[in-house]
Amino acid sequence: MTTHKIALIPGDGIGRDMVSAAWSVLQKAADAHGFDLKGTDFPWSCAFYKETGAMMPADGIETLRGFDAILLGAVGWPAEVPDSVSLHGLLLPIRKSFVQYANIRPHRLLSGVEGPLKTTTFDILCIRENTEGEYSGAGGRIHQGSGDEVAVETSIFTRKGVERILRFAFEQARTRRKKLASVTKSNAQKYSMVFWDDVTKQLSAEYPDVEVTSYHIDAMAARMVMAPETLDVVVASNLFGDILTDLGAAIQGGLGFAASANINPERNAPSMFEPVHGSAPDIAHLGIANPIATVWSGAMMLEHLGEKDAAAAVMKAIERVTASGIGTVPGKDKTDAITAALLAAL
Ligand code: NAD
Ligand code: IPM
Ligand code: MN
Repeated sequence: MTTHKIALIPGDGIGRDMVSAAWSVLQKAADAHGFDLKGTDFPWSCAFYKETGAMMPADGIETLRGFDAILLGAVGWPAEVPDSVSLHGLLLPIRKSFVQYANIRPHRLLSGVEGPLKTTTFDILCIRENTEGEYSGAGGRIHQGSGDEVAVETSIFTRKGVERILRFAFEQARTRRKKLASVTKSNAQKYSMVFWDDVTKQLSAEYPDVEVTSYHIDAMAARMVMAPETLDVVVASNLFGDILTDLGAAIQGGLGFAASANINPERNAPSMFEPVHGSAPDIAHLGIANPIATVWSGAMMLEHLGEKDAAAAVMKAIERVTASGIGTVPGKDKTDAITAALLAAL
């Protein structure tokens, strides 16, 4: 029997309940489809930081390297640890160290879910650059606290980084409706964003079957609300992709439905699967967070591991549950009730 070794990092806040819910669903899918998911729990989180002074041990990345995939809940508890410390101590180093450069985030309405828009027929796949750009971490502050203080944070766009994410997006478009929207802000940012547009144009010659259009990020934000059905694959830089995918989550009914996969396409290090949302401190103790985003991310993990039938079964279970009206309205059903319905549907 095939065994997939999964590192579980529930993290903070609702992340813990979300991973435990998703894990029970994934285990049931594994049982039904004849493979084994062997999970190892890592308590790395803001609580771990408070105890040890670090978000993960010094050899944390090397420890994770031995796994087939990582399932993560959420990282961040700003009341206890500044986000600039917690995220740069755990989530962002994993994405960068394992060269998970393609962040895939699907935005469509599940059966039975009512979004805020009149349009219901959209099906968008956001591909977000996940290792460089505005998240490069190059910068500094001088004369801190004085009237002469200066803060600099430089975006870094490399030929290698931009080309590989665009190529990945073109390939995704090829498997779908063959439309690619490339998002920049090249009217204002005249070096990095013009460079991105140039590479898009260069690569488009290799993909004559894909219709590619460049949009500015401001216009794309409006389009995702006004005419999302005109979009297929949307590719953007790290920060632009981050913002657009919370917008994508909003039009698909909320953050409780938005799944995400951080993929290392070369498969020379583990990929990581996590919802788009964070630790939701405002609802963390209420037991009402929707586990569907994390379960869907888990289905993306099964797909990545080659367990296509099990992945399809999990997606079918999700849609059966939402079609029956369970888990469709934020706050209406308890996490446990949604999870039980998912298990029953499987
Ligand atoms: P958030 O995504 O945690 O919450 C935003 C809003 O969405 C909140 O009102 C929350 O209650 C709601 N929400 C989120 N997930 C939900 C779910 N599954 N079901 C129902 N409602 C849900 O964003 P935030 O409040 O800006 O961030 C909180 C913390 O999480 C911060 O520390 C932030 O840095 C961190 N964060 C982490 C990740 C990650 O680990 N991938 C992602 C985003 C934010
Ligand atoms: C996300 C999150 C992270 C990001 C934060 C927590 C650093 O918002 O995964 O969308 O910006 O990538
Ligand atoms: Mn985000």
